Amino acid sequence: MQFRKLGNSGIEASVVGLGTWVTGGGAMWHGADDSESVRAISAALDNGITLIDTAPAYGWGHSEEIVGQVIKGRRDKVVLATKCGMWWDDARGSFHFTFDGHDTYISLRPDTLAVEIENSLRRLGTDHIDLYQCHWSAKEPEDTPIADTMAMLMKFKEQGKIRAIGVSNVSVAQLEEYRAHGDLASDQFRYSLLFRAPEVDILPYCAKHNVATLTYMSLEQGLLTGKVGMNRKFDPDEFRSNEDWNAWFKLVNRPKVLRMLAGWEDLMEKYSCRLAQLVIAWTAAQAGVTHVLCGARTAVQAEQNAVAGTVVLDAADVARMRRNALALGDPR
Ligand SMILES: NC(=O)c1ccc[n+]([C@@H]2O[C@H](COP(=O)([O-])OP(=O)(O)OC[C@H]3O[C@@H](n4cnc5c(N)ncnc54)[C@H](OP(=O)(O)O)[C@@H]3O)[C@@H](O)[C@H]2O)c1
Repeated sequence: MQFRKLGNSGIEASVVGLGTWVTGGGAMWHGADDSESVRAISAALDNGITLIDTAPAYGWGHSEEIVGQVIKGRRDKVVLATKCGMWWDDARGSFHFTFDGHDTYISLRPDTLAVEIENSLRRLGTDHIDLYQCHWSAKEPEDTPIADTMAMLMKFKEQGKIRAIGVSNVSVAQLEEYRAHGDLASDQFRYSLLFRAPEVDILPYCAKHNVATLTYMSLEQGLLTGKVGMNRKFDPDEFRSNEDWNAWFKLVNRPKVLRMLAGWEDLMEKYSCRLAQLVIAWTAAQAGVTHVLCGARTAVQAEQNAVAGTVVLDAADVARMRRNALALGDPR
């Protein structure tokens, strides 16, 4: 496993991180099997992953609880990352969506953050969180100033409740503002072979200012592992049916992706690895990318993804995979 720094926080974490959105289950992921989730998280840790990313919103606290259960007794081996800012206790904040029966608000108000941190610490069974990330940006009408949010997060840091501060799904202008008001260690955002928009501004900005980057959906929710064939159907409530986010899943687009993946047999042989591992290694090799978050529903997936942290691709192969992905064009 390769290890890289989380910005200037003094924390080092495995280049491959375990994402635990799927662990939360619910309709968005067509459920999850808790005992398999426990095995998946254990397998990740047993195979060199130290970075575990969760969030209160993943299963309305369920993902955090399962993570807390597994890390009991091995807390010191884990770089524990969770998030704040998705709120469903009451109507404070800005309405975001209703899902699984929860009216959910985006709130980065200091008063809701004060409640959220205690809830996360309790569910995770720990007295500190290593990386505490704002899940989404505040928005109208409850557009909490970044200065106020950051002041509260810096207070948590001084109190020892968190070790480092991160953000997610923000613009470069917002990154500037977060950095102006405190210590910003990381930024988390969508990035994959098939979704390269952050290369324009976010990745260069983070590299320049020593902000760690945690990429998500880098396996395109399984599509880039080759396992989503033409017959795989998703329920309308599943996130993978959301064509705004997942246009590559459309039946008209899938064959292009599957053909591209089929063309990498020689690379899999050269590096003695599977497609998922090739794709994770490609992502980890990109300029500005420091950590790649990979979701895993099963222990087998978690182990395979962890092993990808040892795969280092030659520059020519990285360039070839990029050329192949560029040739697919736009999925819309
Ligand atoms: N900050 C944000 O707003 C945000 C948004 C999205 C994600 N995230 C974070 O990023 C993490 C990663 O994103 P993600 O989980 O959405 O997507 P992902 O990592 O691209 O895909 C995860 C899915 O891919 C499949 N998979 C994973 N490893 C595999 C392997 N080795 N072989 C075959 N299939 C494999 C599994 O699908 P099956 O379920 O079909 O088995 C798994 O559920 C999340 O868990 C979360 O921590 C953050």
